[in-house]
This record gives sequence, C-alpha cells and structure tokens, in this order.
Amino acid sequence: MKITVIGAGNVGATTAQRLAEKEYGDIVLIDIVEGLPQGKGLDLMEAGPIYNYDCKIIGTNSYEETEDSDLVIITSGLPRKPGMSRDDLVKVNTEIVKSVVGQAVQKSPDTILIVVSNPLDVMTYVTYKVSKFPRERVIGMAGILDTSRLRTFVAMELGVSLENIHAFVLGGHGDTMVPLARYTTVAGIPVTELLPKDKLDAIIKRTRDGGAEIVGLLKTGSAFYAPAASIVEMVDTIVKDKKKILPCTVLCKGEYGLNDIFIGVPVKLGKNGAEQIIEIKLNQEETEALKKSAETVRGLCTGICL
Ligand code: LAC
Repeated sequence: MKITVIGAGNVGATTAQRLAEKEYGDIVLIDIVEGLPQGKGLDLMEAGPIYNYDCKIIGTNSYEETEDSDLVIITSGLPRKPGMSRDDLVKVNTEIVKSVVGQAVQKSPDTILIVVSNPLDVMTYVTYKVSKFPRERVIGMAGILDTSRLRTFVAMELGVSLENIHAFVLGGHGDTMVPLARYTTVAGIPVTELLPKDKLDAIIKRTRDGGAEIVGLLKTGSAFYAPAASIVEMVDTIVKDKKKILPCTVLCKGEYGLNDIFIGVPVKLGKNGAEQIIEIKLNQEETEALKKSAETVRGLCTGICL
C-alpha cells in the first residue's frame, strides 16, 4: 500500500504517525512548507526501530512522489481560531483544497480520497467536483470523530467502558450535526433508558460543540488526536476490506430523501471505498434535523466558485 497524507500539520503528522505504527504500507507526507514534511517524515522514520515499523515515510513538497497512491488523505487548510465556526473557513480552504486535489489526482487517478479539511462536507464536495471521481472514492471524515466524542461523554457520564458505547452522529460536521440518541446504546441497552433527558441533552450539546471546546482550550489550532484516530479507523476498514458501517460524509443521491448533497450518513466502507449507504429508519424529528443540516451544507456549496 501507498498512502499519501496531504498537509503536515498536527492532523496530517499525527495521522502519518498512527498509520506508520499500524504498518499499512509506505507513507508520503506532503506539504507546501519547505522542510516541514521532510523533517516530520524523517523523525517518524527514526522512531521506526523502536516501534518496529518497517514502512518508508517520505516527506516532500512535490506531488511526483505521491504517484500511484492507493489512498490520499487531505488534511490541508487553515484550522479555525477561537470564536470562529468551521464554516468561516470556506473561502480560504476551498482554494487550498482545489489546488491540492487537482495535483494529487493527476498522479493517482485510481486512488480513494479521504477528506478532512473544514468545513468538511463542503470540502468533500469540492474534492468530488475537482477530482471528477465516482462518489464511492470521495469520502469525508467527520461522523466517526463526532460519534467518538459522543461515546466518550456517555462513557464518562455513566462510568462504564468506552467499548460498551455504540452511537451514530449523522448530518454535517458543524453546528447542525445530528447526534442520534435513539441509536446510542450501552452494552446494547438504549442510552435513553440509562440517562435522563437533561443529561442526554447536555451530552448532545457538548458533542455538537466538541470541536470548538478543543479550539477554545488550545487557542491556536484545533483538535488532532481524535481526528487522526478517526482517519485511521477509515483507512483500517478500507485496507482490510472490513465492510464496517461508519458514519462518513458521502454524496447522497436520493438516500434519506436527500439529493446531490454531501452529508454524513452511515456508510459501509471496504476496498472500493464507500460501498453502500445504509438507510436506517429515522423518526420525523431526526429526518427534519438531517434535512436542515443538508440545507446548511447546500447553502455553503452554492456560494463557492469552482
Ligand atoms: C473538530 C474540527 C477539527 O471537530 O473540525 O475538532
């Protein structure tokens, strides 16, 4: 396997580290800043003898070295500052994502693209448009991150193992995301039977604001450990052709009553990328929330020039 990570900032570098530790294949870390990917790449290589990973990690400023990648992960773009919403990044990051995707797909026309840049759903749409790839090979990472945050908060509240918590957060990766309490379980027990409504509402609010909470604490930059872990979950599922169902941002063509919009829905991931959108039954309130989230994403998409 050859995996390219575009952007050697905190998300990109942490992703490269975790991918190396899992030994999926060789890694190319690319960034426009001279020396940054080379330095981080070499540093990661030098950790190999201790962690016993044998993969090559190349840091570069040139797309030549990304040629024939099996997977390309796009993390480039500016992170938000405290007080900013992810949507405030749309203009600047559209230009960055357009440029990197154009260059990456020229070298790797058969790759699967995993998009991480914010605002996530819109950047996944930009990637789809620029790459002209089939929808199966353009997948946005966010639902896993938001779900992981929800699972963390439920486990903290109940004092039980994180492993017991299953959940789904659908919709856009923004203020309109749709955490599904009804599909959140603790060892198979619906969380709604274990937590009172006010506690659950507070957890859902904290999940929605999860990215901003980290931005507020860090003051410079945004979260990267949980985002990198979420990317690796997607890579693992694709590389091992596991067919795991995970919430990811993909192009809906009628699923959930949504047309031609990139939004977070449950997706079966395998060696071909997003192999199937799984339609779970939503009640009226959930359907409305997903529709509202999709409308917000659509509004942002129509405002950008490609
Ligand atoms: C977050 C940002 C990275 O949710 O979108 O942490």
